[in-house]
Order: sequence, then C-alpha cells, then structure tokens
Amino acid sequence: MAAFLMAVVFRGMEDAELAEFVEIMLHSGAVLDLGHLPAPRVDKHSTGGVGDKVSLVLAPLVAEAGLYVPMMSGRGLGHTGGTLDKLESIPGFRTDLPLDRFQAVLEAEGVAMTGQTREIAPLDRRLYDLRSVTGTVASIPLIAASIMSKKLAEGLSVLVLDVKVGSGAFLPDPAQAETLARTMVEIGRRQGVPTSALLTAMDRPLGRSAGNALEVREALECLRGEGPDDLRTLVLELAAEMLYRSGRFSDPGTARTRATELLDGGAPLERFRRMVERQGGDPRVVDDASLLPSAAEVMPVRAERAGSVLEVRPLPLGQGVVELGGGRTRLGEPIHPEVGFDQLVQPGDEVEAGDILGRVHARTQESAERGARRVRTAIRIGKDGPLLLPLVQNRVNPDGTLAAPWA
Ligand code: URA
Repeated sequence: MAAFLMAVVFRGMEDAELAEFVEIMLHSGAVLDLGHLPAPRVDKHSTGGVGDKVSLVLAPLVAEAGLYVPMMSGRGLGHTGGTLDKLESIPGFRTDLPLDRFQAVLEAEGVAMTGQTREIAPLDRRLYDLRSVTGTVASIPLIAASIMSKKLAEGLSVLVLDVKVGSGAFLPDPAQAETLARTMVEIGRRQGVPTSALLTAMDRPLGRSAGNALEVREALECLRGEGPDDLRTLVLELAAEMLYRSGRFSDPGTARTRATELLDGGAPLERFRRMVERQGGDPRVVDDASLLPSAAEVMPVRAERAGSVLEVRPLPLGQGVVELGGGRTRLGEPIHPEVGFDQLVQPGDEVEAGDILGRVHARTQESAERGARRVRTAIRIGKDGPLLLPLVQNRVNPDGTLAAPWA
C-alpha cells in the first residue's frame, strides 16, 4: 500500500481510477441510508484553517431552515483546528456517538455533530495513518478521495465544500486549491451527490479568536447575531449555498435572506443548546460562556506604535495554538481546550500605540510569553491598506464550472 500511495503522489490518478478508488474507500464500511427523513440531508466540509468555527454556527442554522445536517467532523490537523476538539471543550459533550445514537439526535434535532465512527470508511483511517508516516499526505487525489469517502458515507443529498486559499491553507496556491475543489466536486457528481465548493480566504484567521474554547465562545456570539462580520458573512454564504443547492429555495438571494432572518431570530442558538444537551454536554454553556474551560494566564499583547493592520498571518497563530497545548504534535495526544488567542485585530483595523493586538490564553506565564511572540510575528502594522483576498473568491458549481460568488 505504501508503494501504491507513493505511485499516486508521483503520477496522480486518472478520473476513472480515482472514481474506482473512492468507490472502494466508501464501501470499505457503512454508508448511512437516511432516505426515510422527510427533508434533504446536507453537510459542509472545510479543508481546514485557523479560527474556522463556521460549522458550530452553520449546522444548527441550516437545520433550523428545515434541512437535516448529519455532520461528522475531524480533529485539528497540523496548524489547523478541528470541529471535534472545539465541541469537546463543552463540558460533557460526546463526540463518539455510536451510529444509532447519532441518528437519534439527528432525527430529533435535525442536526448531530460527531466524529467519524469506526464503521465509516475504515480504509481511509488505515491509509491516512500510513500516509502520515510515508510522506504521502500532499496529493490532491489522495486528499480528495479521503475527504469525499467519509462525507459520502453520511448518506447526503447535497454536499458543500469550503476550500481554503491563502497562506494559512494546506494548499495555499489558488490554482492547486481550485484543482482540489474541482476534483472533489467531480467525485460527488459521479457518486450522484450534487457537490459545490466555495473557495474562501485563509490569508488571515477567520474571526478574532483561535483555540478551542475561545472559538466556541465566538461561535455562540455569532449564534446570538453578534460577533465578527467575516465569520457571520461566511456562515451566511455557506448557508445560502446549502439551502439553494438542496432545492429548499429557488434562488441563492432568497436563501441568504432567510438564513439571515433565522440567525438574527435566535432559534439556531436554541437548537444548538438542545443538540448539546442530547449529546451529553452542559447546555448552560450557551448562556454562560464562563462555564467553558478558562486559562490560568491571560496576557494582552499591545501595539508598539500607531498604524493600520496590514497583515495577520494565520500560520504563526495556528502553530501558536498547538505550541500552547491546544493542538497535537503526536497522534492521540490530549489537548488543553482553554488555550489560544482572542481579541485579535483584523487586517484593516486602525490601532494606536498601546492598543491590544490580541490576547494570549496560556497555562503558564512562560508559554504566554511564547504565545505573545507568535502574535507579534503574525501581525504587521504599517501605513497602507492591507492586500487581502476576497472572503469568498470563487465558486465551483456541481457541474464543475467555475463562477463568481453569488453576492
Ligand atoms: N482531511 C482528510 O480527511 N483527509 C486528507 O487527506 C486531508 C484532510
């Protein structure tokens, strides 16, 4: 298998080979049959970023709009965060639901969020471990097959992908990110699950926080109709894409308007609370974020001079979260959910000398100081305006054509 993986890294795969490979991965385990549910099943998958807490808001929002969201998520990988780790910062929350419990939560609340169970795409699990020790992770067909075999096992009607572009993405180069997006969209099409992709910016973190419990806090703010604009905008764009593609709305504009009304009305927050409770978590967290784990040390990092924020690089911050103990350097390592960064400035913000650029949440004074150095490395202040990628760059339609974003 190692030789096979290496061959794919060097030679790539033809479309028909990739289709066959996905078929084998997908059917190496259970494929959910959720056809009995009275509405379409949709999910979103992100290729991973820093500060990307979108799923925590998007899943209950889309369920509120009448769709079913059977979401199986992953853990942090490298410098990027993972939805499972974020959810587990809620005291008691279980992400290891067996399939029957997962389905029961889904049927009751329209949304369930768990990890990939042992039954789902077991071949991917074996290959993934082999890839990580044979230097064969960075291959577009292998990444595409790995992601899609797990997502297609969820028994979806529609899948929406959030493919990150920019320095904090696994594939920073826009052309490569686009190839990955098209490859996954084509796999979805062949498998009869209409799949579309948004190519979105990861040249800066999403929102103003990175780190598990801190991101849950920010997601809860977004669910209250507050929080950073970029997070809210991306949630609404992806919600509109899911609602439109599933046939719930006949045009993306109406879908977006409805998603906005729902988010501002507060019902998705209530749905999130019920899901937390059904999955064993403490639902009081929803109203009282002080019940989330909190760090022993909170250190503000202040601007040395006035200016405008030109750059906030996601990579040093993502690596900083791992270094603080909020991510893993070895498989299965326990993590500290309370650490990370919050109150981060965003590109385009104006700061005065002494203003907070971000705060470090750490377990010790010493690691807080290391974290503070990461913040200083990540942020550049100057005179001109920032050069930023648009939040949503492009869209890949289910037929593989590339188009501009809706809005
Ligand atoms: N995520 C996956 O699930 N698989 C990959 O290969 C890369 C990211």
